[in-house]
Amino acid sequence: MTVLTTERLVLREWTADPADLARIFDIYSRLEVTRWLSAPGLPLTDPARAADRLQMWRERHAGHGGRYGTWAIEVRETGVVAGTVLLKPLPGRDEGVPTEDIEVGWHLHPDSWGHGYATEAARAVVARELAAGAREVHAVVAPGNEASMAVARRLGMTHVGRRTDWYDGVSVETFVLTGVHRVCDPGRPGLRRLG
Ligand SMILES: CC(C)(COP(=O)(O)OP(=O)(O)OC[C@H]1O[C@@H](n2cnc3c(N)ncnc32)[C@H](O)[C@@H]1OP(=O)(O)O)[C@@H](O)C(=O)NCCC(=O)NCCS
Repeated sequence: MTVLTTERLVLREWTADPADLARIFDIYSRLEVTRWLSAPGLPLTDPARAADRLQMWRERHAGHGGRYGTWAIEVRETGVVAGTVLLKPLPGRDEGVPTEDIEVGWHLHPDSWGHGYATEAARAVVARELAAGAREVHAVVAPGNEASMAVARRLGMTHVGRRTDWYDGVSVETFVLTGVHRVCDPGRPGLRRLG
């Protein structure tokens, strides 16, 4: 099912088709991808576990009416799935308990780095979330992950430094993008002149 489209990409649900499962395994078995992810069970070492990962994503996002997801980024021109873009509530210091802070994230296969796909996909996901009324969206990045911090900056996110509020208290570089609807709030008299 298509979730969003952009100029070069289709963002859609990952499926249980063999090609999708093989791609999930190929991405999430790679150390150059998983070294930056704080997710139990990674890297995958058994292709059969790709289906479990898909099931875990489906269960995680169920009950939110499609607002959140772990979506496949498909390149329109080639049909290749470049990787994953995700939107979800950040897990708190106790990982089992989600917070009210929303996270956008990106995990691409190395064969799809360097084309602007992560930024293009995340921009669409963040724009939809903010347009729907979210106050802000966060990106959290392991210290040293320069490629990921560059994506956050390309999105126009503000770097607010290291925080320990999420993911079991692990220290993460934190970026935030705030929705413009706050600036146009007519309840804030000082901003009325903006129209
Ligand atoms: C983080 C990650 C998604 C970044 O991927 P990326 O391809 O570098 O990011 P973008 O989609 O923003 O692409 C930007 C690059 O594409 C290039 N590019 C080429 N064509 C482009 C186009 N048409 N539009 C925009 N950028 C383009 C840019 O110049 C830039 O390359 P550079 O960094 O060499 O200057 C990728 O490294 C990754 O998946 N890493 C492993 C998982 C991970 O760390 N995830 C984040 C966890 S917090």
